[in-house]
Amino acid sequence: MIDVEKIRKDFPMLQNKKMQGHDLIYFDNAATTFKPQCVIDAVTHYYTDLSVNAHRGDYELSYQVDSEYEGCRKAVASFIHADEKEIVFTSGASNSLNLVAYGYKKFLKKGDVVLSCEAEHASNILPWMKVCEEVGCELCYIELDEEGRLPIENFRKVMNERVKVVALAQVTNVLGYEVPMKEICAIAHEYGAIVTMDIAQSAPHMSVDVKDIDCDFASFSAHKMCGPTGIGVLYGKFELLQKMDPFMVGGGSNARFDMCGNILLKDAPYKYETGTPAIEAVIGFHAAIDYLSAIGMDNIHQYEQELHAYAIEKLSKLDNLILYNPHADGGIITFNVKDVFAQDAASYFNSQGVAVRAGQHCAKLLMDKLNTSATLRASCTFYNTKEEVDRFVEVCKNATIENCLNVFF
Ligand code: ALA
Repeated sequence: MIDVEKIRKDFPMLQNKKMQGHDLIYFDNAATTFKPQCVIDAVTHYYTDLSVNAHRGDYELSYQVDSEYEGCRKAVASFIHADEKEIVFTSGASNSLNLVAYGYKKFLKKGDVVLSCEAEHASNILPWMKVCEEVGCELCYIELDEEGRLPIENFRKVMNERVKVVALAQVTNVLGYEVPMKEICAIAHEYGAIVTMDIAQSAPHMSVDVKDIDCDFASFSAHKMCGPTGIGVLYGKFELLQKMDPFMVGGGSNARFDMCGNILLKDAPYKYETGTPAIEAVIGFHAAIDYLSAIGMDNIHQYEQELHAYAIEKLSKLDNLILYNPHADGGIITFNVKDVFAQDAASYFNSQGVAVRAGQHCAKLLMDKLNTSATLRASCTFYNTKEEVDRFVEVCKNATIENCLNVFF
């Protein structure tokens, strides 16, 4: 069970914040979430009490930083059911997804196929477009059904020996559908392909067990799950991380090098962590993981599903809206106000104190499938309330063409 009133007290951004003179309703959680005080305190703790580099010093403060930094790796590993040596800290999910594409490139050859789908975020498609172009591979798209879901039969139909990589999000960032990743991994492995999974929109909202799913890689960001910006994770099966090369080398990632050009890299995960990391963000991320774990990921998932169902029940009665994903598996509501361009409608929502995202949400290929140039996206999380949904529905009801255009005059 979620005690939302108690939870809201933990977030400074949820304390009487106004936007355009109204109480703020923040429904852009798929872009980034607010941070609870414990995360802010953990970041401040680093700068106030520690403030030295990680993995470089031989003095007490340095050991303390190392221990807190590695403590976060342990917490992340346990959060997604991985081993510590399989957790690489990156700057975020996009960095992790690029690391996989460029690291795995050396195992691909002309004629190989990388499979993805039109619902994917740019960060899970563009690195593969570049790699495919460089190697001469083909990037193919698994057909989505009418609703925009990825049925397992459609995946099975296009799977064959030429496919070497399957790159998919566990939950897509616009439609919020859960993809059957466990089945996909089992089928892909039968054909000898690897599966790289974008879990940026699933890890913050549900339990993710990478060992049970048996994916080869999983990428996510801290800032979408109450943690700081600038820190993310690449999970990779250890033997794959060992076999791949980092696309960045330098201090921290090498064991030794000499003037003949010999470089001996450290073992994974350290060979991927070149340069001074975002230490304060790692320490803040640990606080975020502890915070979410104390609430319970299953509780969070259930609450968000209920909130979504509550919103959809009301929104589906409004005839001025087009709803694209009434059956989403989480808190994402993607919609348009009929006959109003999404960004104009977002300005109207802003004028009423409601923050939603408008545009293509980095999923440009999906817009053709939805037959629109842009959408609005309201994304709720465990600190949003039914009362906020009620006010959001009222704003939606009043989002007439006249009201939306009046914002500009
Ligand atoms: N990837 C983030 C989103 O979907 C920014 O909004």
